[in-house]
Amino acid sequence: MDIQELNQAFSSVFGVEADAVYFSPGRINLIGEHTDYNGGHVFPAAITLGTYGVARKRDDRTLRFYSGNFEDQGVIEVSLDNLVFDKADSWTNYPKGVIKFLQEAGHTVDTGFDLYVLGNIPNGAGLSSSASLELLVGIVCEDLFGLTLERLDLVKIGKQTENEFIGVNSGIMDQFAIGMGADNSAIYLDTNTLEYDLVPLDLGDHVIVIMNTNKRRELADSKYNERRAECETAVEELNSVLDIKTLGELDEASFDEYAYLIKDANRLKRARHAVSENQRTLKAKEALVAGDLARFGRLVNASHVSLEHDYEVTGLELDTLAHTAWEQEGVLGARMTGAGFGGCGIAIVQKDKVEAFKENVGRIYTEIVGYAPDFYMAEVAAGSRKLS
Ligand code: GLA
Repeated sequence: MDIQELNQAFSSVFGVEADAVYFSPGRINLIGEHTDYNGGHVFPAAITLGTYGVARKRDDRTLRFYSGNFEDQGVIEVSLDNLVFDKADSWTNYPKGVIKFLQEAGHTVDTGFDLYVLGNIPNGAGLSSSASLELLVGIVCEDLFGLTLERLDLVKIGKQTENEFIGVNSGIMDQFAIGMGADNSAIYLDTNTLEYDLVPLDLGDHVIVIMNTNKRRELADSKYNERRAECETAVEELNSVLDIKTLGELDEASFDEYAYLIKDANRLKRARHAVSENQRTLKAKEALVAGDLARFGRLVNASHVSLEHDYEVTGLELDTLAHTAWEQEGVLGARMTGAGFGGCGIAIVQKDKVEAFKENVGRIYTEIVGYAPDFYMAEVAAGSRKLS
């Protein structure tokens, strides 16, 4: 996206010149799905698709927000003295939440600002447009008000906004990946300790293709909270004998030994996924570091199988994409990515097979689902940052 054009867009909306331009990425997750709120590992990466922000500090206590993605909503004005959730304020609830929690953490945001945002992450596609926006607003405030913050503070404030302001009980993966991303690296994160490694994403002559089901994740929030609750109940049941805080503390063998304590077939499957997916993520990181791409790909496939049959968060659209991708030439692995129930999948595809891949998967998906998917190339990139 062109910086000059972004500045011009800001000026034509707000009638003044901007102070600075920022960018905050979206994310994909290679493997480690629905493990972040289960005390397990995740393996996401920030991507070049994301959210641009252009901002200027004001002298009064007014916040003015405008999104180039929702032009019909026009300028939305909010007072710094009224940072409360209001459905009618639509996407600006994210900035409101971030500013509120920055203030609560003792950071001084004492005047308003004008903010123009423009995203190129497809909306509702499960590539974390919301966490991208949260971190964007975080770095805008950090810069405009000269705040002294660790990046991890902003990551946590983004998550807090999602959990306490928006009401989605999500884990820390998205904000962490977006805040901490690095060029050509995936982030191997232990969500229990927040220790992490940047792992070079060396896929040889393969690239990552993002496959968008073009099905919005409507069920995502309610089902997401339901899955989370099922896992928490399973931990309580296991704790009639064990003493664990999260499912991430168990490997497959110890889970198997105590699985009889879980009294419900669905909960058993949910917990089994949380345990096996965490173990797969450890193995996948090892395989990637060792350059064993074939094994890495098989683990990616196995992740989808577990999300499909044990965690049950896929559905016809994501399953069709993954299953069809597995059949294509030059594909190392494919799976859903993100929360599920729609949104996107990823496939690791040999470079010179990408065109045929898109054509075949696109055709078969359209035949089965009734409308076409979209494909984007995922370029792995750095985390949220100031551009100029
Ligand atoms: C969403 C949440 C994350 C994570 C994934 C599933 O993206 O925001 O915290 O739980 O779903 O892995």
